[in-house]
Amino acid sequence: MSKNFDVIVIGGGPGGYIAAIRAAQLGLSTACIDEWKNDKGGPAPGGTCTNVGCIPSKALLQSSEHFEHAGHGFAEHGIEVKGLKLNLAQMLGRKDTVVKQNNDGILYLFKKNKVTFFHGRGAFVKADADGYEISVTGKTTETVKGKHIIVATGSNPRALPQVPFDEKLILSNTGALAIDAVPKKLGVIGAGVIGLEMGSVWRRLGAEVTILEALPTFLGAVDQQIAAEAQKLFAKQGLTVELGVKIGEIKAGKEVSVHYTDAAGKDHKVQFDRLIVSIGRVPNTIGLQPEAVGLALDERGFIAVDDHCRSNLPNVWAVGDVVRGPMLAHKAEEEGVAVAERIAGKHGHVNFNTIPWVIYTSPEIAWVGKTEQQLKAEGIAYNAGTFPFMANGRARALGDTSGMVKFLADARTDEILGVHIVGPMASELISEAVVAMEFRASAEDIARICHAHPSLSEATKEAALAVDKRSLNF
Ligand code: FAD
Ligand code: NAI
Repeated sequence: MSKNFDVIVIGGGPGGYIAAIRAAQLGLSTACIDEWKNDKGGPAPGGTCTNVGCIPSKALLQSSEHFEHAGHGFAEHGIEVKGLKLNLAQMLGRKDTVVKQNNDGILYLFKKNKVTFFHGRGAFVKADADGYEISVTGKTTETVKGKHIIVATGSNPRALPQVPFDEKLILSNTGALAIDAVPKKLGVIGAGVIGLEMGSVWRRLGAEVTILEALPTFLGAVDQQIAAEAQKLFAKQGLTVELGVKIGEIKAGKEVSVHYTDAAGKDHKVQFDRLIVSIGRVPNTIGLQPEAVGLALDERGFIAVDDHCRSNLPNVWAVGDVVRGPMLAHKAEEEGVAVAERIAGKHGHVNFNTIPWVIYTSPEIAWVGKTEQQLKAEGIAYNAGTFPFMANGRARALGDTSGMVKFLADARTDEILGVHIVGPMASELISEAVVAMEFRASAEDIARICHAHPSLSEATKEAALAVDKRSLNF
């Protein structure tokens, strides 16, 4: 039986399910195909983000932070905790419940918006004048047809050559979110976003964590003043990061042994109870059969698209991790909405210059726009202003005074070019900077806006004032 739709979305992660909802809202008959299975074999839409990414990692970051506060932070507030114990099974179970709530929420939203959901793998079969035939293979195989196809098939973790993930000893993000006993010694390869977030979770729960990073600089994409501050704070917490290493042989037996050469050229062999490999992700087109219709991939395996997410084929679009650009859930969502609107004849847009980044460590790291090193490389004259949380009343009351807010503004026009934060609730504070940059505000604009007292956001205002060397509280 053939079913015809205006739009078929392949992949139900944040790029795909949001595109499907928006297309349906715009009156297009829409289907979304997603193959993710829960532990009972049922549908679990939401993709990497919901199942083994953003949501479960933030659930564990929150739980592990509570545990650390109860163990080390509460005493300062005059709260004594006796007999503190970790119930890891309960903590992991709570994380799974949060994931399921999100899966169920998406299925509910599909129903509410009249998106037809198919649980199975979508693959291109053929194209003709009316559109594209897509096979859906789940418990059975059926064929559906769409005038427009949006590919949102996401990404997979990159493995080290010759070291496949077994998810028992050598873990991708999937295994790293489900370790059933706190490892005594945890190794992490790659000091990127996942390495720092998952390393933080297991360190707070009691593991001795060593992160091995190939590059000589810590968080090279982050403003280096912010990265240096974060590195200092992580070292104080006992999160060991070794930079400039070269990973050699890795052997898994009862434990995992890792050979590596350090930055000075000295050889090491270390034993870990578990090893997380977090060295980036690769686009996923497994089983999609792009060749059946001649859908072009680029040299790195991403679906080749233009700035508007158009592929080389008419009416075939692609969004999210499977196309160029940052691998972030909110970037995928923005592209999904923009494509649905373009299909409906509207003018969807994504501003790639104002996509915020957040690393959910403690303190959090968040930024938008250009770093100081980028401005220097591009020869753009700028003024910088910083303000430390140490001088912010709310941060002192919270007992979390680490870090700073940093503004970078055009030297001639004062337009905000970048905002960088390491500190408490940086993930929430960065939104003000994103809004300001979308409206092309100047640092002076933020400096003149009344911010509530006492609030962490006053540090943002003060950093904006500091651009003109007139911060008030420092
Ligand atoms: P995905 O979420 O990967 O979804 C793709 C979906 O398509 C999957 O369900 C897959 O099963 C399905 N699929 C693939 N092929 C087919 C097919 N042929 N047929 C049917 N279905 C198919 N980003 C953030 O912005 N904030 C965070 O805090 C954050 N934390 C993260 C933490 C971790 C540990 C990881 C790994 C990632 C994190 N990310 C975070 C990144 C974020 O998860 C991704 O950028 C986002 O999920 C990409 O969305 P997507 O829709 O492109 O793809
Ligand atoms: P990443 O790109 O953030 O970091 C990978 C790190 O591994 C880099 O520092 C790289 O230099 C290093 N590396 C690469 N090869 C290596 C090797 N052979 N030996 C040692 N080090 C090596 O990738 P990560 O952490 O795997 O995360 C993937 C993506 O998922 C992120 O880039 C991000 O887009 C997304 N993500 C986003 C989160 C967020 O928004 N908070 C959280 C987690 C993931």
